[in-house]
Amino acid sequence: MAKTKIAVLVSGRGSNLQALIDAAKDDDYPAEIVLVVSNKADAYGLERARVAGIATAVVDHRDYENREAFEEALDTVIRDHGTRIVCLAGFMRILTPWFTERWRDLLINIHPSLLPAFKGLHTHERALEAGVRIHGCSVHYVRPEMDDGPIIGQAAVPVLHGDTPDTLAQRVLEAEHKLYPQCVALACSGKARVAGERVRLQVREFGADLLMNPHD
Ligand code: GRF
Repeated sequence: MAKTKIAVLVSGRGSNLQALIDAAKDDDYPAEIVLVVSNKADAYGLERARVAGIATAVVDHRDYENREAFEEALDTVIRDHGTRIVCLAGFMRILTPWFTERWRDLLINIHPSLLPAFKGLHTHERALEAGVRIHGCSVHYVRPEMDDGPIIGQAAVPVLHGDTPDTLAQRVLEAEHKLYPQCVALACSGKARVAGERVRLQVREFGADLLMNPHD
């Protein structure tokens, strides 16, 4: 089976990257990680990639005069590796429309909330403040607006009595590690196509603990 070449962009600890690395070890997984890129040389995600024998690159935004120059360098290194799909996994730079449109429907992000609720940072604190009973994570194709775009999949977790932002974050993170590899697999096997700014899923079964996209 031909695998889709993906690049993963990280800025930090890279636990979602690790989930993708682990999933991609399966012969039947439809994606191969050909490159891990970070804008930070000390990102632990780079170490995870090295341990797994995956090519790494550092494109430090501080080395470039402006966002456009940074993103051109990023784009060049990604394309040089034959990448077809780009996955953001804790990549802490806002990307301009130039980049997001260049990779339209080929650029995927994971966000720690049930979008469109709680876009942006500190999602777990804000979920607790809002008093929601259900929280979770979303995987979506990226659009120019932050944390916006057609949703591939979502996973829900309960908010429990006595939760702190840390305990809630941990519960969501465990869901992220299941959700992201599944959604990337769907995208890479052509089973999560965008039509009319909704994702149409061509699967009947999606992990039992994950919510189906109602538009399939
Ligand atoms: C995750 O919570 C992800 O949803 C968000 O940033 C965090 C990255 O964590 N975009 P990690 O680097 O994958 O451990």
